[in-house]
Amino acid sequence: MTAPATHETEDATPFTARRAPGCPFDPPPAHRALLPDGDRPAAPPTRVRLWDDSTAWLVARHNDQVALLRDERISADSRRPGYPSVSEASLATRAHNRTFITMDEPEHNEERLRFTGAFTVRRIEGLRPRVTALVDGLLDAMAAAGPPADLVQAFALPLPSLVICELLGVPYADHGFFQRCSRVLIDMRSTPEQALDASQELVDYLTGLLAAKQRNPADDLLSRLATEYVATGIATRDECAKQARLLLIAGHETTANMIALGTCALLRHPEQLAAVRDGDEQQVAGSVEELLRYLTIVHLGRRRTALADIEVGGVTIRAGDGVICANDLANRDPEVFPDPDRLDVGRPARRHLAFGSGPHQCLGQNLARLELRLAYPALLRRFPGLRLDQEFAEIAFRDEMLVYGVHALPVAW
Ligand code: HEM
Repeated sequence: MTAPATHETEDATPFTARRAPGCPFDPPPAHRALLPDGDRPAAPPTRVRLWDDSTAWLVARHNDQVALLRDERISADSRRPGYPSVSEASLATRAHNRTFITMDEPEHNEERLRFTGAFTVRRIEGLRPRVTALVDGLLDAMAAAGPPADLVQAFALPLPSLVICELLGVPYADHGFFQRCSRVLIDMRSTPEQALDASQELVDYLTGLLAAKQRNPADDLLSRLATEYVATGIATRDECAKQARLLLIAGHETTANMIALGTCALLRHPEQLAAVRDGDEQQVAGSVEELLRYLTIVHLGRRRTALADIEVGGVTIRAGDGVICANDLANRDPEVFPDPDRLDVGRPARRHLAFGSGPHQCLGQNLARLELRLAYPALLRRFPGLRLDQEFAEIAFRDEMLVYGVHALPVAW
């Protein structure tokens, strides 16, 4: 498996993560144009040109994406030549960062199954009292220290970081370190050296923790990995450290950005904010699905390689071609979500692809849902006068990060 395949690129649209100025909640306009609009039908899969001049097929329609992501003729293995990498750093770290998120069956499921028990609806529901206490504690501290506050640092980032630390058995005191490394890894501007260093630092750190847990197990996921997999020879400590790194990063970066960007979107739509603030549990749960749909923070598409020729929307995707299932576009497909650019927390949004689809669908979605369902209403009820403490146009959105959101969200109340 060598360098990525390059194809003829002349008429391919450049692939971008950049949303339009003034429309930071909407997908990039050039991609958005592939969706149906009025009498115009959806475009078939379209060639896009990536940062390294290779090309991949961008798939816009919701139904095509669901079919492709569940198709056994599609591979998630980022080491394949046609795989569409989104930056030089992610290309350079693909072997080093190999975990089940970029594995195919049966290897993928074998590894994923080590964790599914910890993320079932029932197990996650059991965390409700603890997550509620963490939410309340953080909001108490925010109230005591402010106004103003940066919502990212005061609430959005610490909450999921604390939760995933407790689940894994990682000391929260080290959050400065692991949050910094994660940021480097998901920043498309990082150099390959910076990304490789950050990746190795995290693996070294987690390897040390696994060794300590093997000697002294506790009731957490790292201890389970150390005693059930490393100590028994089923997996190496390095493999387990890499899996733990995936959970640690995915467990905090994503939900943190949903909390902050979701709050920002609600502050721009006061009637929707009021519905979340005043809603009952079921209404809040529906609102969370709509915010996930509307914002699609894991926004660079689900990237794959075709293993065989596949017909999609009248186009033949050839074996070896890269495929990008643009889940941000699927979530704005008017065939599935009428009036898709409207944030409407009352709509049924459950078919969104914010957590992906198929075998790689988000392992942590139940946890993310619990945190979001508790975080938004608690924040809005505690601070009924919450408002942006910065011009909307001045807010720094995360176009250059693999996980979209805001770098900071200055608020007052
Ligand atoms: C996979 C989104 C929270 C762990 C995914 C995928 C998406 C996603 C789109 C699919 C990747 C693909 O198809 O290539 C999100 C969003 C979240 C969130 C939007 C929050 C709002 C979490 C949390 C965890 C987590 C809290 C906790 C550990 C994972 C893992 C995978 C994954 C391990 C890989 C699953 C596999 O390959 O089998 N996530 N995620 N995520 N997510 Fe999440």
